[in-house]
Amino acid sequence: MYSSSSFAYHLLLLLLSKSATNSVSAVEFPKPTPWPLQFHSILFVNYSGSLSIIDLWYDWPNGRNFNIIQDQLGQLLYDLEWNNGTSFVYTRDSTEKCRTSQLEVGILRPNWLDGAVYLGQQQVDGFLCNVWQKIDFIWYYEDVVTTRPVHWVFYTGRSIHVMTFEVGAVLEDIEWQAPIYCFEKARSHLKVDVWNPQPQGLKGI
Ligand SMILES: *[C@@H]1O[C@H](CO)[C@@H](O)[C@H](O)[C@H]1NC(C)=O
Ligand SMILES: *[C@@H]1O[C@H](CO)[C@@H](O)[C@H](O)[C@H]1NC(C)=O
Repeated sequence: MYSSSSFAYHLLLLLLSKSATNSVSAVEFPKPTPWPLQFHSILFVNYSGSLSIIDLWYDWPNGRNFNIIQDQLGQLLYDLEWNNGTSFVYTRDSTEKCRTSQLEVGILRPNWLDGAVYLGQQQVDGFLCNVWQKIDFIWYYEDVVTTRPVHWVFYTGRSIHVMTFEVGAVLEDIEWQAPIYCFEKARSHLKVDVWNPQPQGLKGI
């Protein structure tokens, strides 16, 4: 029969070992901060030395995502994606080019980084960042202090540096209207063969 002191001792051991197990399993790696539902960001892009600036307007409640892409000393390209899978890539100059495509998937969900593997911390662009990797597709760097995204790199080598990050900024509805020539069937059909721009947003990688 246990003496009461031996019982207490065993109980103590049990509690200690249990709390030790708990604390081990409770060690959690940082998780990427979900994207704000709406934000505007200016991105500096380097794709093997080809430079561009992207004006990114992410607008989840309205199911739309806009990449306005300025290649260095090159053309200005509008890459507009809707959550129903339709996307329009067009110019707004006199060339009046437009390419429409229908994708299986809509825009990125705010929690699209869920399930990314934590790789630890790294100094990037002068910011101490938490780093994650998602299915060999993207490496994502988030500022430890502010949790803002700082940098991401696609497996293709396309490298993005986040220059501004305005949470809650929304582009006016009128700006999301694709130009009329995107809806002129014959004309856009004609252009398809001769113009095949690569989308450059998160999906275009
Ligand atoms: C762009 O990336 C290349 C490597 O792919 C690098 O050599 C070059 O310095 C970078 N340019 C800028 C402006 O960051
Ligand atoms: C998806 O939504 C956009 C914007 O409302 C619209 O222009 C497009 O026709 C829609 N696509 C489909 C397949 O319904």
